Amino acid sequence: MTVMVVGGAGYIGAHVVRLLQEAGVGVVVVDDLSTSNAGRIGDSPLVELDAASPEAVEVFRRTIREYDVDSVIHFAARKQVGESMERPLYYYAQNVGGLVNVLEAMQAEDVKKIIFSSSAAVYGMPQNVDMVIEETPCEPINPYGRTKLIGEYILADCARAWGLSYAALRYFNVAGAGWPELGDEAILNLMTMVFDRLERGERPLVFGDDYLTEDGTCIRDYVHVKDLAVAHIKALDVLDKPGSEHVFNVGTGTGASVLEVIEAIGRASGRDTTPIIKERRPGDPPRLVASAKKIERDLDFVSTTGLDEIVDTAWKAWRFQHD
Ligand code: WQD
Repeated sequence: MTVMVVGGAGYIGAHVVRLLQEAGVGVVVVDDLSTSNAGRIGDSPLVELDAASPEAVEVFRRTIREYDVDSVIHFAARKQVGESMERPLYYYAQNVGGLVNVLEAMQAEDVKKIIFSSSAAVYGMPQNVDMVIEETPCEPINPYGRTKLIGEYILADCARAWGLSYAALRYFNVAGAGWPELGDEAILNLMTMVFDRLERGERPLVFGDDYLTEDGTCIRDYVHVKDLAVAHIKALDVLDKPGSEHVFNVGTGTGASVLEVIEAIGRASGRDTTPIIKERRPGDPPRLVASAKKIERDLDFVSTTGLDEIVDTAWKAWRFQHD
C-alpha cells in the first residue's frame, strides 16, 4: 500500500509524510516545490509536478502505477486570500484544475480513496455562531474559499458517479511545528507575521481591537499542525467503503484572541510583544471557532495541544530556520 501525497513537501503535507514514514506506510510525494522544498520529505520518492499542468494527468497515472498507489492525500493548492481576489482565474486553475487532474488519474487507474485539504474559509463570515458545525451554511467570501468549496462539490459528485471515497478536512488556523525543521516557512499568518516583525525589531500589529469579542480582537481556533496531521492518518481508515463521504472540521473547539496569541508569543520568545493597534483588515470574521464534535465521534480524533505549546513549537521552528 502506498499513499500518494500531492503537495507533500509543504508545511502541512510534510508533517503527514513524516507520520506515514514513522508508521512504515509507503509514500510517494508529488510537489511542484514552488512554496516548499525537497529537504522536508526525507527518503520518500519525489515526483516534481504542478498538479494543474497539462501533462499532470499522465504523470499522476504513471506515478500511481509505478508505486502501486491505493490512496491519495491532496494538499497542493494556492492559499493566499488576498492574491485569490487579485488573480481569481489563477486560483480556479490551480486549486480546482489541480484537483480535477488528480481525480481523473485516480478514476482511470481505479484508485478510490482521497483526503482533501479544505478550509474554514468555506464558511465565510458566520454570523452569531459560537461554534461552527459542518452543517453551518457555506458562504465563502473570496475566490480562495470558493475553490475549496467547489473542490468539496467535485468530490461529492465523483463519490456518487464512480464510488470515490473521500474525506474533506476543513482546517481552522493551523500553526506550530511537530519537528523544528518542518515549521511554516511562509510569512502569511498571525504567528509568523509577528515573529517576522520581532525579528526586525518591530512591534506586532493587531488588525482591529473594536470587535464584539471579550478583548475586542478576533478569535480563531488554533490547531497544532501535528494534531492536524494525525487527523489525516485517522481519516485514511474510514475510506474503505466505496462511495463514503466525510466532511470534518479540524479544530479544537476553543478560541484564542489575537491579543492572547501575541501574549503567548511574548512568553515563548522572551521578547517584548507590546502591540500596535491598526485598522480592521477587511473580510476578517470576528470569531471563527470549530465545533470538533463530529471528527471526535467518527474518527476518535481530538486535538489537545494548547496555545502555549503551539506557539512554543512555532517559535522554536522559526529559530531553527533563522539562527
Ligand atoms: C488571524 C487573525 C487577523 C496578522 C487565513 C485565511 C484562511 C486560512 C488560514 C488557509 C486575524 C489577525 C494577523 C497580524 C493580526 N488559510 N492578525 N496581525 O485570517 O484567520 O485565516 O489563514 O489556508 O483561509 O483566511 O488567519 O493568521 O491571517 O489571521 O492582528 O500581523 O490575526 O486580522 O484576525 P485568518 P491569519
